[in-house]
Amino acid sequence: MAKLPLIFTVNGAEQAEFVDGDALLVDVLRDKLGMTGTRVGCGQGTCGACTVLIDGAPALSCLTLAVRANGKDVTTVEGLAMGGTLHALQTAFAEGFATQCGFCTSGMLVAAKALLDRDPDPDRDAVVDAISGNICRCTGYEPIINAILAAAADLRGARSA
Ligand code: FES
Ligand code: FES
Repeated sequence: MAKLPLIFTVNGAEQAEFVDGDALLVDVLRDKLGMTGTRVGCGQGTCGACTVLIDGAPALSCLTLAVRANGKDVTTVEGLAMGGTLHALQTAFAEGFATQCGFCTSGMLVAAKALLDRDPDPDRDAVVDAISGNICRCTGYEPIINAILAAAADLRGARSA
């Protein structure tokens, strides 16, 4: 199969690859670019573990052809922390025990980032809706929802120390 060019931005850095036309975005991220923070849970579009942002919108990278990302801006969980500083969501997840086995965590964080980028002050229902495509088998979701609300408050400067 002829390779197709894929030129896109991942976490702010331009990447240029040649990929098969049927290559999946998650495989390019993990296997070609070494960004293994994006997980593959089901590989069928049902668990949300593979969630990344494409031009700011959540996308299931296990169902997305890599060539669909051509010319786009992709954000993975590796793009959340700035230098050595964790994103407020990552800090809130750690402080709030919102991760246990951790398998869902990358997708949860990325889905939550998309929410907070478009709505800095979401209510609980909005948080539940934002992560409705992300399955967690460990936490019962409450710590995750609380952590996202705490991170939103932190980012707004609304949470007292
Ligand atoms: S691995 Fe993509 S939705 Fe489960
Ligand atoms: S922490 Fe284990 S699946 Fe969510």
